Amino acid sequence: MRQIWIPKPGPPEVLELREARDPLPAPGELRIRVEATGVNFADVMGRMGMYPDLPKLPCVPGYEVAGRIDAVGDGVGSDWVGRDVLALTRFGGYADVVCAPEARVFTRPEGMTASEGAALPVNYLTAWQLLHVMGSLHEGDTVLVHSAGGGVGIAAIQLAKRAGARVFGTASAGKHERLKALGCDACIDYTRDDFERAVRELTHGRGVELVLDAVGGRSFEKSYRCLAPTGRLGMFGLSAAATGKSRSLLRALGPALRTLRLRFAPRALMDANKGVFGVNVGHLWEEGDRVSRWMERLLTLYVEGALRPVVDAHVPFERAPEAHHRLQDRRNFGKVLLVPA
Ligand SMILES: NC(=O)c1ccc[n+]([C@@H]2O[C@H](COP(=O)([O-])OP(=O)(O)OC[C@H]3O[C@@H](n4cnc5c(N)ncnc54)[C@H](OP(=O)(O)O)[C@@H]3O)[C@@H](O)[C@H]2O)c1
Repeated sequence: MRQIWIPKPGPPEVLELREARDPLPAPGELRIRVEATGVNFADVMGRMGMYPDLPKLPCVPGYEVAGRIDAVGDGVGSDWVGRDVLALTRFGGYADVVCAPEARVFTRPEGMTASEGAALPVNYLTAWQLLHVMGSLHEGDTVLVHSAGGGVGIAAIQLAKRAGARVFGTASAGKHERLKALGCDACIDYTRDDFERAVRELTHGRGVELVLDAVGGRSFEKSYRCLAPTGRLGMFGLSAAATGKSRSLLRALGPALRTLRLRFAPRALMDANKGVFGVNVGHLWEEGDRVSRWMERLLTLYVEGALRPVVDAHVPFERAPEAHHRLQDRRNFGKVLLVPA
């Protein structure tokens, strides 16, 4: 098999394609011949040496794959063999052969391509948890989605529109037309306009019920101020710390310190009727049953046509650095995938 390794922290070019023996599925596992692997911003942060969840380097990153089952371990039904699936992997997904526990593997519904399958798990589970599990989104609410043209952003737009919410999105200007076509009610070019002021204008000073923010640093403070009474801020990342393509602790320090300094004091929250919460879907690995139920719900929504992953690019394994450049250059609209062939 072939795997893409992060041998050491550095720019996208450190990613290295290596060959290894095909793994054998352990008891309770299935083996997947991978057709597509999802690329996440966390992989980028990990490559830069700025993602504490990643195993010690060198390692093979990757949280999600889609492909076909070709072998099963002891205790797993042989009827899995030949099925088209998608799977959550806790790392190791940047490979053309992957073993995963049965509970993290899901049969792809009819019509779902491997590309859609690999684009769905992390982005849609994260958006689901943010909007519905913790964000308590209701029909008629307004939600502000940062990085709206990214993988999680597009998933959040589709799910929020389906729930009957009004959606504002922040993104680079070149993405606005496509965001509007997806149902985004207003787009804010955060590179030119102050998003806090824009939200105030759009809501006549009232603010929004929910903000999804993975930019972090100063953005968390501003997003908090965008909340209407009873509003909630969902924090789930710190992309502002990814300045440049290699780790620069100095450059990351500003956003990190700003985030550390944030104080959402109980009294202030009570008096303002506001809520804040955090999401890290990768830390729910031990809550498998709940996550599986969310996934089953998402797969049903796919069958009903309520969600459709948007794939931005298929990047061959040999050119893996391009996938990371694309995210970091803010060129992607939707999900970037790595494909073995
Ligand atoms: N906690 C969790 O469970 C969880 C799960 C998934 C993702 N996340 C977080 O959610 C965010 C989005 O993840 P994703 O995988 O869907 O990626 P993504 O949004 O597709 O990431 C790329 C996009 O992010 C925007 N962006 C904002 N700040 C950036 C920066 N400093 N450098 C480069 N791009 C930046 C750019 O779009 P524009 O500038 O055009 O808006 C870019 O196109 C990331 O912060 C990620 O860590 C968290």
